Amino acid sequence: MSSLPPDSIAERARKVEELITKFSAYVENTCSSNLKPHLDIGTTYTEEPGKGAVVLLTGSTGYLGSYTLSSLLGASRVSKVYALNRKGSRALKERQEASFLDKGLSASLLQDKRVTLLEADLSMPHFGLPGPIFEEMKQKVNVVIHLAWPIVHTWPLERFEGAILGTCNLICFTTLAHNAPNMRFLFGSSSATVLGWDSFSPVPEVVLHDTSFALAHSGYSEAKYVTERVLERASINSTTLRIGQLCGSRQNGAWNTQEWIPFIIKSGTTLKQMPLILGTVSWFPVDVASQVVCEIALSEKHEVYPPVFNLVSPTPVMAQEVIEMVQTALLEQGITGLMVMKFIPVNSWLREAAQYVQAHGPTSVARVPVVKISHAVRNLLAYEKASYARKDIPITDMKEYGRGGPFLTENGKVWSQTFREITELEREDVRGWIAYWDKKGLFNNVVGSKAKL
Ligand SMILES: NC(=O)c1ccc[n+]([C@@H]2O[C@H](COP(=O)([O-])OP(=O)(O)OC[C@H]3O[C@@H](n4cnc5c(N)ncnc54)[C@H](OP(=O)(O)O)[C@@H]3O)[C@@H](O)[C@H]2O)c1
Repeated sequence: MSSLPPDSIAERARKVEELITKFSAYVENTCSSNLKPHLDIGTTYTEEPGKGAVVLLTGSTGYLGSYTLSSLLGASRVSKVYALNRKGSRALKERQEASFLDKGLSASLLQDKRVTLLEADLSMPHFGLPGPIFEEMKQKVNVVIHLAWPIVHTWPLERFEGAILGTCNLICFTTLAHNAPNMRFLFGSSSATVLGWDSFSPVPEVVLHDTSFALAHSGYSEAKYVTERVLERASINSTTLRIGQLCGSRQNGAWNTQEWIPFIIKSGTTLKQMPLILGTVSWFPVDVASQVVCEIALSEKHEVYPPVFNLVSPTPVMAQEVIEMVQTALLEQGITGLMVMKFIPVNSWLREAAQYVQAHGPTSVARVPVVKISHAVRNLLAYEKASYARKDIPITDMKEYGRGGPFLTENGKVWSQTFREITELEREDVRGWIAYWDKKGLFNNVVGSKAKL
């Protein structure tokens, strides 16, 4: 279910299929001789005894990546981590340390001799790395966790071709590697690839071959979907982690201020009104998610991976309850003073946001940042209308606000103890996010707060 005109949906579906064909051919041609022995991977997985896990992790400077690196270093089974990241304006070690500190992780963890930070370009031959280090990785790596990705919801599909190519090169790396027959490959995809799922039956844990579910308003979801399909065709021991909305860590509340949910909350504090949101949320605390990713990556199970893990929280809560907890935490922490916010329907709320910016000029967008993404939020309404009115079903079968669903989550339960034991979001989580966002200045100049005027 997309809000795009039908001809443009057809055009986008055509482009998606074209890229699946193009990149599948690239993988086949580039790794063909290496792929052949593994095409029939069967149903069991054997591990080389006594070697432990040697992990190639991409995107370790990011939100999930930092917690994943930290979780890997906390696992005794891990004997080495090669953390590959793109070049930046500052040295990689400095960026990694800054990211750890921001997320409440100790930078001293990075002194661990098991970790090697490497600046790399996945789209280049040998990832742009010096020959000896690439050879060493080829000899040693037996797990690839690929999280690096440009998270830009305004890019068209074509701009993600570099990211898709990088993933293809990683697939080829796994087939070239010494441990190829015993390699595991985890791809960090997104539940956005099934945002168009329009049924009340749960999204299964398989790669969906109906392209239309992925055509959910952004090149980002389409590119992730293309990659899921290419990976599936590569027939290596791989899995797609279909990650749902990650939320603030349980360690220090860390949650990027530049995302749609903080945008909504910041805007609410300015408008003195919050949107009335229906449906559920299955948001996953990022540090818990990283632990789940590690348990799947390092599992001692001998089966090959299932094709997909739907990594959304198996214990959803009603969206409106979370928004009310947000309102309470804002009051408790003195951010909104004594202001009690009203709840109004999302459409009217978005209109109020637009009118605020019209009345106060372009610089006021910083106070009502939701206007920057109102198109996306309005699109979410389509799902809301279609799906939330039902009160006759259990909460786990309800639609997810902004994330489609409901989702099957059986594979996570089989492969990860942390996943089985995850508890639902509660007040303490929400307090942590608000405190973190406040520290980051999200609520500066909120009208109503004495401290911050
Ligand atoms: N956060 C969520 O709610 C969520 C939900 C679903 C799926 N996911 C997926 O989970 C993974 C991690 O997400 P995240 O929230 O941790 O994102 P993030 O904080 O933005 O981190 C993204 C990582 O990818 C790197 N990166 C960005 N653009 C790149 C490019 N063009 N080439 C190479 N590397 C690039 C970043 O490097 P720099 O540090 O240099 O920027 C960073 O290491 C992503 O694949 C994302 O799609 C996340």
